[in-house]
Amino acid sequence: MLTTRPRGTNDILPDEVHRWQYLERTIAELCRHYGYQEIRTPVFEHTELFYRGVGETTDIVEKEMYTFLDRGGRSLTLRPEGTAPVVRALLEHGLHSGMLPLKLYYVGPMFRFSRPQAGRFRQFHQFGVEVIGSKDPAVDAEVIAMAMDLYHRLGLMDLDLMVNSVGCPACRPVHREVLQAHLGPVVAELCPTCQGRYGKNPLRIMDCKGTRCQELVRHAPTITHSLCPDCRQHFQGVLRYLEIAGIKYRVEERLVRGLDYYTNTAFEIMAGGIGAQSAIGGGGRYDGLVEACGGPSLPGVGFGLGLERILLAMAEQGIGPSPTPVVEVYVAAAGSEARQHVFGLLQHLRLAGLSAASDNMERSLKAQFKQADRYGARFNVIIGEEELESGTVIIRDMREGNQEQVSLRDAVGYLTDRVARR
Ligand code: HAM
Repeated sequence: MLTTRPRGTNDILPDEVHRWQYLERTIAELCRHYGYQEIRTPVFEHTELFYRGVGETTDIVEKEMYTFLDRGGRSLTLRPEGTAPVVRALLEHGLHSGMLPLKLYYVGPMFRFSRPQAGRFRQFHQFGVEVIGSKDPAVDAEVIAMAMDLYHRLGLMDLDLMVNSVGCPACRPVHREVLQAHLGPVVAELCPTCQGRYGKNPLRIMDCKGTRCQELVRHAPTITHSLCPDCRQHFQGVLRYLEIAGIKYRVEERLVRGLDYYTNTAFEIMAGGIGAQSAIGGGGRYDGLVEACGGPSLPGVGFGLGLERILLAMAEQGIGPSPTPVVEVYVAAAGSEARQHVFGLLQHLRLAGLSAASDNMERSLKAQFKQADRYGARFNVIIGEEELESGTVIIRDMREGNQEQVSLRDAVGYLTDRVARR
């Protein structure tokens, strides 16, 4: 127990962290190119926010939230997603009273209590963007383009982008009736959860993972046929912009998302080869959410992409950054007097902007070279007794396989120069 992590969580170990840093750097660069600003919200929120925001009949709220009472008796929940918290923050700080639309992004851990399996965790990480204040279909297309651009920058191939429109409060009741009429004769065959959903939110049944429920909704009419003229026009607009951007998509009329706040556009991106949990991202428009959270009527659209799943897909496709060396320079010492000079030289190197390390275990020179190799050091600096006497060091370029004797005084300058030239 003391030496095992909680089920569904991951340790990101030192030899994998460069993949995360690469992904995070690529995300920050992408967001800069699109003019999105970063926002950071707490990892827990008042439970009520997710009831109102995500929806009471969703799997997330019904079964997956980490909810607890704090010592003051308040009900708090570890955030299962990032959209409702961003909306809460923007209302709390009045960000929406400035220039619209607001274009925000976040990267961070989310928490859902679901059965762990390949690609599904209880603590996972999302990169999300939210655009608040514009109803323009170009914004829907922009966020979709942005997600696809990220995958492209990472080198991911063979992705399947599915888009749909899930309508608005005007056309949804029409679809709801159609769906209830279709499922009415078989209500008793639905799973207990979906029997409850039948009356409250029948559209949710489309998203049930139960085999029998899936069979029963397979031939149910889709919302496409019930869309009102405005929703139809908006959806056509989004598709047109996607075409302008040269983005390949597939309209999937049965696509419903796991959160209740969506209106109009809904989309999901799937990657092959990573198992059943193949959704590497999803999002859509949520024109009623800001109001549901107690704010003015403001439209919004965004996405959330699962970083673990993106990294899994990259590993599956054999792409990703090569490991970064631990240090650029390793300073090895022969003899105890030399060790004292090592310490001074190390600090000078670091202050000059180079990464440098040495031995702290009184290893033999041979073992120090081995450690230098493990660290991936490009340069080995060797201080021996002879060198001490002559006030010099030996600098070995491990890549080129040559070495030079340099005066101790010039070593920092020499190395900074060599590393910069590289
Ligand atoms: P979501 O579809 O629930 O949407 O999650 C987005 C992505 O997070 C998924 O496509 C998947 O890649 C990843 N993900 C979800 N659950 C897990 C899990 N248990 N383990 C690993 N990865 C997971 C949202 O969360 C919305 N807030 C997205 C959004 C933003 N819509 C509008 N704005």
